[in-house]
Amino acid sequence: MSFKDKTIVITGGAKGIGAGCAEVFYRQGGNVVVLDVDEEAGRQRCADLGDRAHFIECDVSRESDVEEAMGQAAVTLGGVDVLVNNAGILHYSTVTETAEEDWDRLLGVNLKGAFLCAKHAIPHMLEAGEGIVVNMSSVQAFVTQQNVAAYAASKSALIGLTRSIAVDYAPRVRSVAICPGGVDTPMNRSAFRQSPDPEQVRQETIDLHLTGRMGQPDDIGELVAFVASDKGSFINGQPIRIDGGMGIKIAGSKKD
Ligand SMILES: NC(=O)c1ccc[n+]([C@@H]2O[C@H](COP(=O)([O-])OP(=O)(O)OC[C@H]3O[C@@H](n4cnc5c(N)ncnc54)[C@H](O)[C@@H]3O)[C@@H](O)[C@H]2O)c1
Repeated sequence: MSFKDKTIVITGGAKGIGAGCAEVFYRQGGNVVVLDVDEEAGRQRCADLGDRAHFIECDVSRESDVEEAMGQAAVTLGGVDVLVNNAGILHYSTVTETAEEDWDRLLGVNLKGAFLCAKHAIPHMLEAGEGIVVNMSSVQAFVTQQNVAAYAASKSALIGLTRSIAVDYAPRVRSVAICPGGVDTPMNRSAFRQSPDPEQVRQETIDLHLTGRMGQPDDIGELVAFVASDKGSFINGQPIRIDGGMGIKIAGSKKD
């Protein structure tokens, strides 16, 4: 796979899974544009990668930020060949415990952010001839832990958004949803720290995966790069799980 002369815009690319995606695309010769609210980490990530990586400070939940960032990527940084809608936040609560502002904040980043980025990236893709929108959903679109009502709703909705983009812009723009299981990132590490026994929760999370380990950002980055490459050109409009086999085992069943 080569992304030479291609520009890949990655939201939330300063840390975690987005940073893993940035690294994989960069390794494969692409120009990488990281959009993130964390300016310090984003600039550092791009400096660590090299001179084909650029940072733009952008809050994906604000349309003015997104429109400006996509314009900058298209006009001065080489285009928008691939958009990876990865920026996301997590909030723990049930439906009855979720404050309206927490619901709006989470959906604003996880769902509206992806919509806004697609809205302002797709015209540049169509102008250039083609493009790919990869939406970072989650295994929680299929199997859901307790206390993540807004998050699970946002990740399920991203699968619908993916389908709509695929249907509305085929054949020139493809869209794919990636659904990771537990990945070792700052998001998960901070979630573990909220529990009285972070190490126990980390081990319980590992145990949910048949692989005996959580995913690494690179695992997800490699899949994102594959679906965005020519080798993935027959994949469209679908969610793909990359979850170490999470949630497929019948509880209580034993190995042979
Ligand atoms: N870590 C997991 O186990 C896991 C599993 C499935 C799906 N996901 C999804 O993958 C994506 C990345 O998760 P992660 O674990 O790497 O998270 P993370 O918190 O480690 O990193 C997220 C990045 O997004 C940035 N960000 C947050 N709000 C933003 C905004 N409004 N605008 C722009 N950037 C913003 C953060 O600054 C950070 O750099 C998220 O959409 C998450 O829901 C994560």
